[in-house]
Amino acid sequence: MADAKIIDGKAFAATLRAEIGRKVAALKKSGGPTPGLAVVLVGEDPASQIYTRNKAKQTLEAGMQSFKHDLPAETSQAEVLALVDRLNHDPAVHGILVQLPLPPQIDSNAVIDAIDPAKDVDGFNAVNVGRLVTGGVGMVPCTPLGCLMLLKDALGDLKGKRAVVLGRSNIVGKPMAFLLLREHCTVTLAHSRTADLADECRRADILIAATGQPQMVRGDWIRKGATVIDVGINRVPGENGKMKLVGDVAFDEACAVAGAITPVPGGVGPMTIACLLQNAFTAACRQTGHDPESF
Ligand code: GUN
Repeated sequence: MADAKIIDGKAFAATLRAEIGRKVAALKKSGGPTPGLAVVLVGEDPASQIYTRNKAKQTLEAGMQSFKHDLPAETSQAEVLALVDRLNHDPAVHGILVQLPLPPQIDSNAVIDAIDPAKDVDGFNAVNVGRLVTGGVGMVPCTPLGCLMLLKDALGDLKGKRAVVLGRSNIVGKPMAFLLLREHCTVTLAHSRTADLADECRRADILIAATGQPQMVRGDWIRKGATVIDVGINRVPGENGKMKLVGDVAFDEACAVAGAITPVPGGVGPMTIACLLQNAFTAACRQTGHDPESF
């Protein structure tokens, strides 16, 4: 029986995108620039093609400029670094995103760290990671930022809450843990080698699932009334033979126990691009001497 509150990330993201569109218009009206976001895709991974196309489309819809660079799968690291260097020095480009994963001949960390930290709208550059960890002002990775917005909207103040983050990726798990720590949560970062994952999860007031394992988190892993944020996007065969999307949480089981939960699709997913647009707006403001908070 589903009694958890369903957290509507799709609606939240639509409101956020509309708000960013309004801020972009106000920035331009005040003599500021048109924020420009460059998205670089290397290769033909179908999921990455869909993500980057959506990123470009929503960038334009928010009134920003979109620069899309689609490179062949055999592109060398030197060629990608040369493009990043060119974008770093292009004043029309305020944000740079290189879609991951990159093909095996390219060292992802070398590319990410070549991006000007001020233009690193993904927040993956070592300088921005360092700022997040030490409490400085930088760029915060989009998916964890989207999760945090949904959590604050659902719960208000997060101070003192026990948060368990499942998964330790650089894109989600690690930055999520540090964002929650910044909100004064007591944070556990659990992963595939954690001794008893279910037991760790059962302690959580806030559970963030980012394992990439379909429906791994079962109902009896969840504390009664907990807030569950499901970052997973997994394609699995449905009953009718067609593929369907499921999260990292067994949704129906979780609904019977959790206080609130994000669905898949329609939860965290739409928040990622909305936060990317927000980061691009913030980057454009900072690079041109405008206060992003003033719009
Ligand atoms: N691949 C999956 N998620 C992301 C993301 O947030 N940013 C980039 N650049 N690549 C990704």
